[in-house]
Amino acid sequence: MRNPNLFMVSAVLACCAGLASAGYTPDFDRGVDVGLAIQAAIESAASAGGLVPEVPGLAPERPVWVSMEKSDVGALDGALFKSAPIAQNKRLAVYEFKPADLGQLSDGMYRSFRRAPGYFAHDTLEAALQDLEAPPAVPARAYTIDQGPRLKGMLPLVKEETIVSAISSLSAYRNRYYRSATGVDSSKWLQQAWGKFAEGRPDISVAAFKHAAFPQESVILTMRGTAEPGKVIVIGGHLDSISGGGDNPAPGADDNASGVAVTNEVIRTLVESGYRPSKTIKFIAFAAEEVGLRGSGEVAAAFKKEGVAVEGMLNLDMTNYKGSALDIYFVADNTNADQNAFLGKLVDTYTAYTWSSIKCGYGCSDHASWTKNGYPASLPFESTFEQYDPFIHKPTDTLSQSGGNAAHAAKFARLAVAYAVELAK
Ligand code: BES
Ligand code: ZN
Repeated sequence: MRNPNLFMVSAVLACCAGLASAGYTPDFDRGVDVGLAIQAAIESAASAGGLVPEVPGLAPERPVWVSMEKSDVGALDGALFKSAPIAQNKRLAVYEFKPADLGQLSDGMYRSFRRAPGYFAHDTLEAALQDLEAPPAVPARAYTIDQGPRLKGMLPLVKEETIVSAISSLSAYRNRYYRSATGVDSSKWLQQAWGKFAEGRPDISVAAFKHAAFPQESVILTMRGTAEPGKVIVIGGHLDSISGGGDNPAPGADDNASGVAVTNEVIRTLVESGYRPSKTIKFIAFAAEEVGLRGSGEVAAAFKKEGVAVEGMLNLDMTNYKGSALDIYFVADNTNADQNAFLGKLVDTYTAYTWSSIKCGYGCSDHASWTKNGYPASLPFESTFEQYDPFIHKPTDTLSQSGGNAAHAAKFARLAVAYAVELAK
């Protein structure tokens, strides 16, 4: 039998390499919390090697090609990079990585700077090399606000109760990891749930967007525009969750069942009110965000390739943890300044919420994929960057950390309803 003392020693040692992921700093003078140390060891081991099994019979992970800021590379442990960059420009470099090593990349950066590196992971070298090209310029557009009479009837329809219910359903899966069986199931569940909105609405359809390299599917609900169906508004957020990787428990209630639940509430509200948009609205739940924005990266690149005219993208990622004094914080980097200003005006026009701007400091979520492909994208966020939900990426990211209610998330649903109606007119 394995010597339990030896296991304890290795757990305590391993804890110190995985501190950032477990958020536990042992104090060797005053004593070590062994429970937390073991949790840290499990998380760190899993993120380092993907030790916990995923879908049985799933083919081993293929390498990915990662693009990231060269300044971040310089600040990280050189041992993480097994060889020289395959290609680079002034700002970015492209490396080949084993997906299982990406967790260490994030951990290394958290340890040094208390932030993730922010990187884009791709199935092919060709897709990664695209990142080295300058993104297409975003054409300037006029934003107007004149849908008051319509929105006056719609905004009161937003309900906390249905947001709570969607967060509960999604966070009940053991995890929604992009390669796990429950990660696949949670996407299928959402496809079914969204399918119900299409009943009796021939203008609404639901489709899975399949990804070649992993089994979790992105989900797209399309509400076809009545007058200009070729012009498209995108609203959504990532459906996957992570806690160390593999099949570890990862309820992801705030990160990001809360964003998917808000997306669901926007659809529900628009359908309940019998609203028909002039332009097409696509609601998207992205697979595989937590492993390098892979789901949204493929969806946004496909839209660009097909020449889809996306007039605006609203990313909903982390909406239900009120960590700061104000209600909504717009992320100013890797987003579109004009659309951010428009969103601020929507808040002032239609709500009494307070808002401000923050920076992630890196491409921290799916909006970055849309920005990169030349589309105007924004991320309204739950708190300042210093005060975001401390439970994300842990087995303790549950609805109870937000008091079991969706009061904060409902603000984002009201803003997103106003955004949909004012842009899709
Ligand atoms: N929801 C987070 C992004 C986030 C966290 C934004 C905290 C602002 C504050 C997202 O799901 C995430 O974890 N993103 C990764 C980056 C990605 C490129 C792998 C991260 O921040 O580590
Ligand atoms: Zn996350």
